[in-house]
Amino acid sequence: MAVTMADKSVFGYSTIPDKEIIELEDIYGANHYRRLKAIARKTQGAWLYTQDGRKILDCLAAYSAANPGHHHPKIVDALVRALQENYASVISNVVYTDVLALFLKKAAEFVPQLGLRFGNNGNKVLPKNGGVESVETAIKLARYYGFKEKGISDGKQEIIVFENNFHGRMITIISFSTSNHYKEGFGPLTPGFKTAKYGNIDEVEKLINENTCGILVEPMQGEGGMYQPPKGFLKGLRELADKNNLILIFDEIQVGLGRTGKNFCFEHENVIPDAVVLGKAIAGGMIPLSLMVTNRSLMDMAFRPGSDGSTFGGYPLACVAGLAALDVIKGERLAERSAETGKILKKKIMDIAARSSHVKEVRGEGLFIGIEVKNGDAMVFCEKLLGHDMLCNDSHHHTIRISPPLIINDDEVEYIVERLERVLVD
Ligand SMILES: Cc1ncc(COP(=O)(O)O)c(C=O)c1O
Repeated sequence: MAVTMADKSVFGYSTIPDKEIIELEDIYGANHYRRLKAIARKTQGAWLYTQDGRKILDCLAAYSAANPGHHHPKIVDALVRALQENYASVISNVVYTDVLALFLKKAAEFVPQLGLRFGNNGNKVLPKNGGVESVETAIKLARYYGFKEKGISDGKQEIIVFENNFHGRMITIISFSTSNHYKEGFGPLTPGFKTAKYGNIDEVEKLINENTCGILVEPMQGEGGMYQPPKGFLKGLRELADKNNLILIFDEIQVGLGRTGKNFCFEHENVIPDAVVLGKAIAGGMIPLSLMVTNRSLMDMAFRPGSDGSTFGGYPLACVAGLAALDVIKGERLAERSAETGKILKKKIMDIAARSSHVKEVRGEGLFIGIEVKNGDAMVFCEKLLGHDMLCNDSHHHTIRISPPLIINDDEVEYIVERLERVLVD
């Protein structure tokens, strides 16, 4: 389904010129993003369209939110129907809705049984909006477990986290970031976190004490530089969690839902956590929706009426998008396609790297590929790539992140390869 500018007199939402859009954002918006100079007016599949007819291949996919591609027709149809047929407004959480119930079942069953040592009870799901909220929900789960089941005094619970973590930007979450620019000046910060080196199981073991209740980790780091942990690390965490009665939480907000070639990143090593946090693509990138999923007995232990909630978390429109997105993820084999396409693309990128004087390392799985550059300034290359109509950004300054929608085809793979060749090979 090609977008043509002749379809409508107005291309996108408005006819405001690009220059004015930038001025409006400068005047009225917080200056909290360093933006690249591209103004997207329409999106479809793997492409962004500008008003002057430029077509830009989206190799960022909103940090995995657009895994199924932009405006996936099945998700759009589901949303349009829900709005036209009046079952999508925000409804007070004091009543039940069919869409929430159906979505919870589908999401709970999509995730393998979590928290195996707590029994084969099925999973339960607690929905929120942005990913950071679900990370906090998982922190509440681990802390409450420490308090209620391990007898840790309330206020003394500790969770082990990792260097270069990224779990969002609200106060509690930035409190344990190791990037100073995320937290400087925003104190007082939330206590109760201990930091280990990512990949170093001995350090984790040394940090465990009688107040430790959980471990929070990204099974592959996204914002931290696109790193895969050393083989055996996740398994080592699982063993430590079992031995010390800790809640092991995997943040799969960026790397889950097919991104790395599996539905869940933890499936690469077949290490099952006690709780998982999902977001971004869980509603197809159309509506904010995030989830904390855990074993039924853990969810029932930690939450009672009043102990958690969110007006919009899991509201009908989000659930409609979530139901359609899960159908797309499964039905269109997004994880398998990510694995297959990613393998081909990574091989071609490795070939470019071998001929490039700029590339230090290529790493990643599926369509989650990082190209670390020798000069440490990946943004310089991302700006050049944008000049060649390909959108990507840096991860942790030094790495070019290549994470297109998982639906990209062979021609789009060639498009990426051609542009990387132009920019990385002198
Ligand atoms: C691993 C991880 N956790 C949490 C978040 C926060 O999600 P959100 O920006 O939706 O709050 C992100 C966002 O990029 C992420 O990559």
